[in-house]
Amino acid sequence: MLHLVGTTSSAWLSTALSSMDKILVDHAHCEHKAAVTALSFVSKYPDDPRLITALGALARDEAGHFTRVAELCVTKGLSLGHPAKDPYVEALLGRCRTSSVLDGRVDRLLCCALIEGRSCERLQLLAEALPQHKQAFVDDDVCALYAELWREEATHHTLFIELAERSLRRSGVASAHERTLSRLRELAAWEGELLARLPTRAALH
Ligand SMILES: [Fe+2]
Ligand SMILES: [Fe+2]
Repeated sequence: MLHLVGTTSSAWLSTALSSMDKILVDHAHCEHKAAVTALSFVSKYPDDPRLITALGALARDEAGHFTRVAELCVTKGLSLGHPAKDPYVEALLGRCRTSSVLDGRVDRLLCCALIEGRSCERLQLLAEALPQHKQAFVDDDVCALYAELWREEATHHTLFIELAERSLRRSGVASAHERTLSRLRELAAWEGELLARLPTRAALH
């Protein structure tokens, strides 16, 4: 269960399938950012041993994903270049509360859960569509990678929710589970609005 409000449009999938060179490059950058973000949580919140070990492992997973996508880009002669700003991620994180350190921590973890969830949904769409859309940048290796990657992002989605709830529970907040799900629903509604409002791009988000 990905806790997403709204499903990705067919327009996005059409755009992605017709721009797989751009999708591959953007995907590599997304995996890189995911690894860096996970390690930044470890530096920022070193109080929770579970967070340190789980996000350390997640960073290793994401670095592995980055390497695999980047290798495909290199093989296909695609230049990574510098990562562009991601308006979706920026707007989503802009919704994080600053009312307290704990609120900000919970919101950042839940935003990451939603980003992982949306990535999972879209990678699965690509995994299902790519075998019927072989083209210059889509061969058996690309199809095999996408068939595999989306499943891992689903486990990352669940992990970030668990870490948000742990943050509340470890701070002595009553009804940590209910409060986590309630805030997740609010942020998911905002994420769904964002997707409907932002222009469709040849990018994962
Ligand atoms: Fe990943
Ligand atoms: Fe992930």
